[in-house]
Amino acid sequence: MLKTKGYLMLGLFSLLAVALAAAACSGGVSKSDIVALQAGVQSKADAAAITAFHNGVTQNQADLKKDVLALQEQVKSGPDLAAVGTLLNAKFTTFEKGVPLWDIQPGTAPRMRELTESFNLMWFAAQAGNWEFAGFEVYRAGEEVKGVLVTRPGRKEAITEWSVPNLKALEEAVKAKDKAVFEKAYDSAVEGCNTCHTKSKGGGFEMGAIKVTRPAAPLFPNLDYKGQ
Ligand code: HEC
Repeated sequence: MLKTKGYLMLGLFSLLAVALAAAACSGGVSKSDIVALQAGVQSKADAAAITAFHNGVTQNQADLKKDVLALQEQVKSGPDLAAVGTLLNAKFTTFEKGVPLWDIQPGTAPRMRELTESFNLMWFAAQAGNWEFAGFEVYRAGEEVKGVLVTRPGRKEAITEWSVPNLKALEEAVKAKDKAVFEKAYDSAVEGCNTCHTKSKGGGFEMGAIKVTRPAAPLFPNLDYKGQ
């Protein structure tokens, strides 16, 4: 019995020895191997990150180069003069409140004074049969209206509605050198001045307060309306 036990123990020890020897031979299960493997995995991950970082830097460099080249092209081709010109033109041709140069331009009232003068001169020239002078005043009235169109675009519609048909009728009467036709056209135009006034405000005041009539006296006593 004892003998049998002794053999069994011997057998077990020999098995353990063989297993240990096998483990020592393969070497893959030691702690240091696992640590080394971990380090390997980590260093691989780092390598990937470094590659990504490197690629990023390369891309940035490429982008930067592209930007610099584009800038160089712009500098070479000079400033966009056409665009600058368009901007400047818009500033000078379109009324803009708050721009000092525009704010000091005459608005409607000074043009109205001029219209009053032109209509006075026109009347006495026509009465004197001076159609050249009368025609010049019809032309002047048209120029005076143009000023309003530029500096008071809000009044454009109302003033055009008046000026286009009325100045045309006056022009035709002057061309025909017909006093009766002229007076009729003149009275219609004056009626138009007043119609517009009843519908307009100036500086908050009702312009219906201003009534235009045929002139009672010439504005300038130092003019001979008959001409030379
Ligand atoms: C578009 C409508 C309209 C028409 C047409 C018109 N007016 Fe006026 N008129 C006005 C407005 C608006 C004012 C006030 C202007 C302002 O506030 O700057 C005015 C003001 C005036 C003034 C006062 C100007 C001053 O400086 O005190 C006179 C005078 C005048 N108009 C005469 C005329 C005569 C003459 C005609 C026709 C030949 C005429 N108007 C046609 C709208 C009109």
